[in-house]
Amino acid sequence: MNSKIVKADLKLEKMESAKRIKNNDELKVASEIFDKQTLENLYKLSKQSYLDILNGTISTGKEANVLIGIKNDSTFVAVKIYRISTSDFKKMQYYIQGDPRFNVRSHNKRQLINSWVNKEFRNLNRAYGNKVSAPKPITTENNILLLEFIGDFDGNPSQPVRNQNPENPEDFADKILFELKKLIHDAKLVHGDLSFFNILNKDEYPVIIDVSQSVVLDHPIARELLDRDVLNIHKEFNKMKVKISIDDIKKYIKYDKIFK
Ligand SMILES: Nc1ncnc2c1ncn2[C@@H]1O[C@H](COP(=O)(O)OP(=O)(O)O)[C@@H](O)[C@H]1O
Ligand SMILES: [Mg+2]
Repeated sequence: MNSKIVKADLKLEKMESAKRIKNNDELKVASEIFDKQTLENLYKLSKQSYLDILNGTISTGKEANVLIGIKNDSTFVAVKIYRISTSDFKKMQYYIQGDPRFNVRSHNKRQLINSWVNKEFRNLNRAYGNKVSAPKPITTENNILLLEFIGDFDGNPSQPVRNQNPENPEDFADKILFELKKLIHDAKLVHGDLSFFNILNKDEYPVIIDVSQSVVLDHPIARELLDRDVLNIHKEFNKMKVKISIDDIKKYIKYDKIFK
């Protein structure tokens, strides 16, 4: 088991015995990463029965931590928590500004993060609703996004393709392109950060994650982002020795029909 998880478990035990959580003893928080505001948001989610125990970190990224949440029916949820202190506000502003769905003029960091989380929720909803292989979004609470846990029934998360090579790369690449095409033509989104870190390998099927920066097709930077995504995914395919040209990728996703 991941040493971070073991640490979190130990911490959880300590906290349980010390009964340090006073606001809501239903929720057991096994981490130090949270500021007061984030804790309050977690309590709120717990009160609404979205989550009961937070246990184990899956990932500590540049801007967000992803944790495993356990609900009282013993099912798992993924809990993505944006850290207010280390978020890249310049980037957030850049991506949000041109999005016709958001009218954010605020320079307030908290508000910007809320919009960012909301954007990820809506993008996921759009993807999931259009049958793209992506986690189902559950709810948001300010800087926290709850989403379907991708993993097994014991709570082991599926790994990014980067860490778990597909058994059959050709076949896996086909599945990725199939999903990418749906993301673009059905959900009408450009991912914007497509790499094997943001595609999970769940039982040899790709699951596309991390759509906070994804933009709608009529966003002014959509084409630029898509071109970058195509180059990146081509590189990833090459690395796993799948021979496909950039032109073939573009043909497959019907690139010519995307921007009118
Ligand atoms: N729904 C999920 N189920 C299981 N693991 C997840 C889920 N969402 C994210 N993860 C894990 O957390 C990592 C970081 O999540 P991601 O959304 O890509 O955030 P970041 O912005 O930090 O890159 C992923 O690479 C993956 O390992
Ligand atoms: Mg990511």
